[in-house]
Amino acid sequence: MCGIVGCFSREGCYEKLLTVLQKLEYRGYDSAGVALVAGGALAVRKKKGAVANLCGAPLAGAAGIGHTRWATHGKPSDENAHPHVAGKFALVHNGILENFAVLKEELTKNGEAFSSETDSEVIVKLIARAYKGDFFAAVAAACSRLEGSYAIAVLCEDFPEEIVCAKNKSPLLAGAGRGAAFVCSDIPALEGEVRYVCPVEDGEFVHIRGEEICFCTAGGACLPKVFCRLAEKERAPVGASGSRMEAEIGQIPHGLEKTLGWLRACDFAPAARALRGAGRIFTVACGTAHHAALAFGALLSREARIPVFCEAASEFRYGDPLIGAGDVLVAVSQSGETADTLEAARLAKARGAYLIAVTNVEQSTLARLADFPLRTLAGAEIAVAATKSYNCQLLCLYFLAAQTVFYKKAAFPAWFSALGRAAEACERAFSCFSEVFSLAKRLQTARAMSFIGRGTDRFTAAEGALKVREIAYVFAESCPAGELKHGTLALVEEGFPVLAVATDRATVQKTANSLAEAKARGAFTCLFSPYKEYAGAADFFCPLPALPAPLMPLVSVVPLQAFACRLCLLRGFDPDRPRNLAKSVTVE
Ligand code: AGP
Repeated sequence: MCGIVGCFSREGCYEKLLTVLQKLEYRGYDSAGVALVAGGALAVRKKKGAVANLCGAPLAGAAGIGHTRWATHGKPSDENAHPHVAGKFALVHNGILENFAVLKEELTKNGEAFSSETDSEVIVKLIARAYKGDFFAAVAAACSRLEGSYAIAVLCEDFPEEIVCAKNKSPLLAGAGRGAAFVCSDIPALEGEVRYVCPVEDGEFVHIRGEEICFCTAGGACLPKVFCRLAEKERAPVGASGSRMEAEIGQIPHGLEKTLGWLRACDFAPAARALRGAGRIFTVACGTAHHAALAFGALLSREARIPVFCEAASEFRYGDPLIGAGDVLVAVSQSGETADTLEAARLAKARGAYLIAVTNVEQSTLARLADFPLRTLAGAEIAVAATKSYNCQLLCLYFLAAQTVFYKKAAFPAWFSALGRAAEACERAFSCFSEVFSLAKRLQTARAMSFIGRGTDRFTAAEGALKVREIAYVFAESCPAGELKHGTLALVEEGFPVLAVATDRATVQKTANSLAEAKARGAFTCLFSPYKEYAGAADFFCPLPALPAPLMPLVSVVPLQAFACRLCLLRGFDPDRPRNLAKSVTVE
């Protein structure tokens, strides 16, 4: 979850580190820090809170490392901020060391004193103790003792133009720019800084010596690598409120159009054949991506008459799933770096399953692991709350479902051509934002709310509730509309908000009935639906543009995303940086 960066540049190394760190902040903003080496000495600047706190004159040096932290071991504080220093070394780390307690005890017995509560400090102590004049060998020796996940970048006072990096199960890539060499947790953070990138694989080391980037084994043997050209830098605009989330909601139609263009040019035959002939189909994902996977699973099983098992990745990996050879796993992840999703995918592959991955980052670990990588072209998503990536995931997954149906029944489902109208429908959904904003105003002080829906609408309801929880800090739950009277109705008292999504003609009346039951007990009821004749069925009605019912999750989520964003802003919070969360959850 933390972001790490290493940079060699004779000009402006400190500024470059800060620029990248600012872009890495969505990986964690509990603390930030940098270290540079110059004149045989390390200079470290680190602080609790945002990168902006690292103010002061630039630190000198051509080699430097930087870190943004999402706290795992030890509270957010100056002491726990990275880089950590021992002897001649400074280190930044992303990941979790599983054997750190054992190592710390051993080091303490050997007289080492620790100045932080982090697991990471153990690594730099090990490096310092292993050092006999060979920088690379000391890092490699320390890494041989580590269990768990890590991506590290290390500086040494004796080598002012070098950085040594290692990786296991935490993302890392190397990037080459004009007169500069980088390592970094994320591709998007390097946009604008480098022209070529190459991912680092587990167990590999990267040795930066001046501008030269060398991939090596633990023994120091050079590994041949091919760097890929990085796509043109994308603009990361902000919305009228100054938030990226608002801007990213506005980019949904564009992302859908780009994704559709890519999908239309893609040869689906291998993936659709695997799905058609699959013994079993599973999906794994986390959070918002899991909601997209659930909608896909429901659609595919209904259309293709195939059972689809959808599981949160964190449950799948420890649940001894029934997956094996001949089965297909569809893994969905915006970042392609989410630890639970990756481990679930690795498990499925190890058991012989065929892996289809849907990611928004082309070179991500998940995309590289997949037998069939599918792309969403949502563009860089910076706000922690996923919005445009969700719509694009749905589009991509529905496209995949349609291809599977085609390979099974020799005909596309009736709704297939309507995927081409998804972008325009989302754009039309923007016109209801003024009503949605007034709803947010009305519910600004609500302490809790329930979202309900039937069929695939229940996944939209779940996504709406997640958005409200994560950025507006209002307790929001979701349940299938028919389940309301089996428990949740007990929560309803005067003014309690119940928000329903009803996009299927076949069940809209049933959902309206559920709202009526809540209303009879004092609830403030809201209905998001394309069926305007139901406007009177709730205290608040949001008209949705219509698409064929199976595709409605693509558009019905848009007002809920906007509602959560506005509620967050009205309550005085920053939608881009919700407390306790980070964009890319690369630790368990
Ligand atoms: C969404 O708003 C969340 N921030 C979170 O649930 C996210 O979707 C989840 O962590 C999965 O991330 P991924 O898509 O990058 O794997």
